[in-house]
Amino acid sequence: MLVAGNWKMHTDIDAARTLARDVADSVGDPGDVTVVVCPPFVSLSAVAEEIAGTPVALGAQNMHAEDAGAFTGEVSAPMLTSAGCRYVILGHSERRQYFGETDEGVCAKIAQAHAHGLIPIVCVGETLEERKGGRAEEVVGGQLVHSLRGVTPDNPDRLVIAYEPVWAIGTGETATPDQAQEMHAFIRGRLNEQFGEKTGRALHILYGGSVKPGNAAELFGRADVDGGLIGGASLKGEDFAAIVRAG
Ligand code: PGA
Repeated sequence: MLVAGNWKMHTDIDAARTLARDVADSVGDPGDVTVVVCPPFVSLSAVAEEIAGTPVALGAQNMHAEDAGAFTGEVSAPMLTSAGCRYVILGHSERRQYFGETDEGVCAKIAQAHAHGLIPIVCVGETLEERKGGRAEEVVGGQLVHSLRGVTPDNPDRLVIAYEPVWAIGTGETATPDQAQEMHAFIRGRLNEQFGEKTGRALHILYGGSVKPGNAAELFGRADVDGGLIGGASLKGEDFAAIVRAG
C-alpha cells in the first residue's frame, strides 16, 4: 500500500512546515504503508527538514524533462533530488487540463525521473463526458500506452500508477469501489501485458478522487487498489493519517 498526499497549490512555507509535522505526528508508524507528501516546490526543502527521520517520504507535483536549461519557471529532476524528493507526480489531470501536458511529455518525464532515481507517480483518468460516452477504458488505455512507451522500471517499486477519474477530483464525488476496481483491473491487465505478470502484479495502482477517511477502507479493500493519491483530505494531518491507517 502507498498513500500519497498531493497538496496542490496550497500552504505557504510556514503552513507547509506545520502540516508536515502534523502529518508525521499523526501517521506515527505506518507499518507496511508507504507514506508520501507532495508539497509545492518552494516548500520542498522546509518539508524535507520537518519529516527527516520519520517514515514520511517527499515528492514533488511536477518537473521538467531536461536536466537544466533556459526553461523559465521550470524545475528539474536533479533539483528535486537535491531537495530530498524520492517521488514525483507526473501527468496529473490538472497539468493536462490547464497546462497542456501530453502523454508524450509525460513519457519523457518518466524517463527523466528514472534516470535520476525518482519514482514517478503517473496519473491517468477519464473525464465525465468520456465515461458517459462509454470510452473510459479506451481513454485510460491510450494514456497508458503513450505515457509508458519504452518505460522499463528495473523493479516494480520504481513506478506507480494513479487512476484518477477527472470527474471525481475535488468534486466530492468518489468512484464507487466497484468502479475503481473495474478500472484498476483493466489497468493491471495492461501493465501485465507490458511488463509481464510478475512485475504487473507488484506495481502499485493508486486510486485518486475525493478519497476521505470515510471511504478509504472500502476503496483500499479492493483487489487491485493499492493505495491512494489524496488531494483535499491530505491538507489535514488527522484526516490524512486516518486514510493511511485505512491502508
Ligand atoms: P481530491 O484530489 O482528493 O481533492 O479529489 C485528488 C488529486 O487530484 O490528486
